[in-house]
Amino acid sequence: MIQVDEQPQQLNVLIMAAGLGTRMKSNRAKVLHQLGGLPLISYVTHAAESLHPQSIVVVVGHQADEVEKVVREDIGDLAAFALQAQQRGTGDAVEAARPLLENSDSVLVLLSGDVPLIKVETLTKLLEHHRTTKSDCSILTVRLEIPTGYGRVLRGPDNSFVRIVEDKDASEEERQVREINSGIYCFDTRKLFKALRSVKPVNKQGEYYLTDVPRILLAAGGVVTCFLHTDAREVSGINTRAELAEFENLMRRNTIRRLMVDAGVTFIDPSHSYVSAESQIGRDCVIYPGVSIEGKSVLGEGCVIRSGTRITNSRLGDNVTVNDHSIVVDSEVGSNCAVGPFAHLRMNATLEDKATVGNFVEVKKSRIGRGTKAMHLTYLGDATIGENTNIGAGTVTCNYDGVRKNETIIEDNVKIGSDTMLVAPVRVGARSVTGAGSVVTKDVPPDSLVAGVPAVIKKSTKKN
Ligand code: UD1
Ligand code: CA
Repeated sequence: MIQVDEQPQQLNVLIMAAGLGTRMKSNRAKVLHQLGGLPLISYVTHAAESLHPQSIVVVVGHQADEVEKVVREDIGDLAAFALQAQQRGTGDAVEAARPLLENSDSVLVLLSGDVPLIKVETLTKLLEHHRTTKSDCSILTVRLEIPTGYGRVLRGPDNSFVRIVEDKDASEEERQVREINSGIYCFDTRKLFKALRSVKPVNKQGEYYLTDVPRILLAAGGVVTCFLHTDAREVSGINTRAELAEFENLMRRNTIRRLMVDAGVTFIDPSHSYVSAESQIGRDCVIYPGVSIEGKSVLGEGCVIRSGTRITNSRLGDNVTVNDHSIVVDSEVGSNCAVGPFAHLRMNATLEDKATVGNFVEVKKSRIGRGTKAMHLTYLGDATIGENTNIGAGTVTCNYDGVRKNETIIEDNVKIGSDTMLVAPVRVGARSVTGAGSVVTKDVPPDSLVAGVPAVIKKSTKKN
């Protein structure tokens, strides 16, 4: 009879993320591939973080520096890293973390960097199972219609766990088994590292299989159990780009469904709109087909976003209309503004309430005041524009002198005539007017009409 001692209370998480992911046919480490705008690894680290563990150890190898950077940004100091210089299998990956974990009196939750949809609730249930069954190893398993590629879970006549056999090593009969290893486990940390010493790379792939550990623990008199989960999709790994696209599609559908059902957003054609999981869209917004809303974007209520528009990491107030084929990146648009068609807002472009930026207008690193309009064919860069000003068609802020980017300031209630060139640095005073085709090279005082090339003062615009 074996002695089942009290389980440790402490919790650690280990995430395997060193592999290249050969089946992705990519130069990029698999866990860095993006899903719903985030690297795969981020989903796993966030789920791990929600378990409030003592530490999260990430095994890195391929593009270790980049993976570390992403993980650090996600979970900061909670993360520790173990380098697996050569990828010799999942057993070897865990081995790399030995110095960090071997002597820890803890339960270890083991996750794969390529299983991104895993839910915290499922991990919590697995942990509960692990504790109530007093297991040394609990394996999260699911049944699949098509189990090809996965390790199969073999059980004895009494239904108890016997061993895991990898797809490539399985006999024809074993391949018929539909219960698979999800690659997610709970272990008694000390026992895991002890058993790991007995793992040998004797299999079709010549790798150190972590999946040999449960069988070794069992042979040593340990308790190994399976926790059969019902949601197969949640634990399916991403191995190919086709699978990545399937997940992307699934996530997108979930996000859009949530926005329709919970947030009251209209999607004219939900199957042809793209919204990142991290974006927020307010009530009664209408999203046309072919719109992408990316990164952390926030849209207020009642906005209308027409076809072909991309909004990335930007904030829109209420009742904003963005017409067809516009791009809004890292920018802020106030309430009751209109943008586009074919407008481009970027690098901190800011539109105050009721501003309008129309057809073929580019706004870069500029502030457009309340009620101000730039309707056609204009470039506004490094500019600060006051309220209720009109920027005529074809206006250009000539902000770059070949060395520096210079500022243009246009005050309130100004009328910039069509085809005005504002040679920065330059300031146009309040209530002034520039004639069509002016090239403004010097500051324009308030209340004056300037015209010509270069523009000179013609008269006062003051009404007496
Ligand atoms: C593994 C399991 C299999 C299970 C499947 C579930 C083994 C031997 N097989 O197979 O039973 O059904 O997951 O998805 O464990 N990794 C490293 N270093 C390595 C090798 C892999 O860090 O040397 C990492 C990978 O980056 C990945 C994870 O471990 O995040 C899983 O590796 P992968 O090669 O995808 O294993 P599978 O063949 O899918
Ligand atoms: Ca895998």
